[in-house]
Amino acid sequence: METKIVSSVAIVLFITSLMASPHSSQSASPNGSSAFSFADNFDIMWSEEHFKTSPDGQIWYLSLDKETGCGFQTKQRYRFGWFSMKLKLVGGDSAGVVTAYYMCSDTGAGPERDELDFEFLGNRTGEPYLIQTNVYRSGVGNREMRHMLWFDPTEEFHTYSILWNSHQIIYLSISHHVFDEMADRFFVDQVPIRVYKNSDKPNKFFPNEKPMYLFSSIWNADDWATRGGLEKTNWTRSPFVSSYKDFKADGCQWEDPYPACVSTTTEHWWDQYEAWHLTDAQKKDFAWVQRNLVIYDYCKDSKRFEKLPEECGLSPWD
Ligand SMILES: *[C@@H]1O[C@H](CO)[C@@H](O)[C@H](O)[C@H]1NC(C)=O
Ligand SMILES: *[C@@H]1O[C@H](CO)[C@@H](O)[C@H](O)[C@H]1NC(C)=O
Ligand SMILES: *[C@@H]1O[C@H](CO)[C@@H](O)[C@H](O)[C@H]1NC(C)=O
Repeated sequence: METKIVSSVAIVLFITSLMASPHSSQSASPNGSSAFSFADNFDIMWSEEHFKTSPDGQIWYLSLDKETGCGFQTKQRYRFGWFSMKLKLVGGDSAGVVTAYYMCSDTGAGPERDELDFEFLGNRTGEPYLIQTNVYRSGVGNREMRHMLWFDPTEEFHTYSILWNSHQIIYLSISHHVFDEMADRFFVDQVPIRVYKNSDKPNKFFPNEKPMYLFSSIWNADDWATRGGLEKTNWTRSPFVSSYKDFKADGCQWEDPYPACVSTTTEHWWDQYEAWHLTDAQKKDFAWVQRNLVIYDYCKDSKRFEKLPEECGLSPWD
């Protein structure tokens, strides 16, 4: 795995230098301010007392104890765009603890919600964290994938991003921490973990109508998360803390009834042709992920689905 990482990093660097100018001016924190304020952009969903920030307000901490976890959400909704955040997950014995970073059209678990999830499933000390991703359209999920990671997500901050336009949804993470600076600006620097395609026909699997908020949360899921629920949360180790920073949303911010940005398809890099498909460099990285890191793919689970869902017939390579 070591050599593979080195070669994909080299490709990424090369592409970065090619792409630097067209993209560099497009990306910004939500209102262009570097002194980003939590209160300006987020609300705490539950349990204020489990939320803390660093003295300068730039790092946010969510904690979980036996009483409760905690979560926050953006004040704004977005339809399409590029969303990224740096997370450092609970280290040590984190079995049973789930840290989530997701987009959802609803503030609750509404029956018609659309949702895009990153869930980080904790583990016993020294055992690997897994990433579970899912896609919901109109309240229907059951589209899980699980991946191993190629780095320790608890040691330092790493970037996790979602690209969402009307052609595809990509879940990405950084290839190596030295690139975090650049990854904030160019999605080509990040390794695609999962690609979820739309088809050119009307369908019921691709979420593309409802604007979504962005959420993060930490909670106890020891009934299912780690080895299927066999490993329980060790509460003598609590509180469990996940850390967040550098939220970026470069997307179409929703305004009722319709924001101007939903009707254009050429103004934003995240909705232009090159963001409709994987680039050649991303295809190499994605192939490497497919070969080495996929633990579970619902599209391969014919025991669970007598007939595989329609979207499983679409190729991520197109
Ligand atoms: C960022 O947005 C918030 C809320 O809309 C506003 O209060 C704040 O002044 C903005 N900051 C800048 C630098 O525009
Ligand atoms: C936790 O570690 C065990 C043992 O290495 C592994 O089988 C499992 O897939 C890991 N992750 C989860 C979420 O169960
Ligand atoms: C829970 O954590 C405590 C404190 O670190 C440790 O002594 C104990 O053995 C752990 N229990 C389990 C079941 O791992």
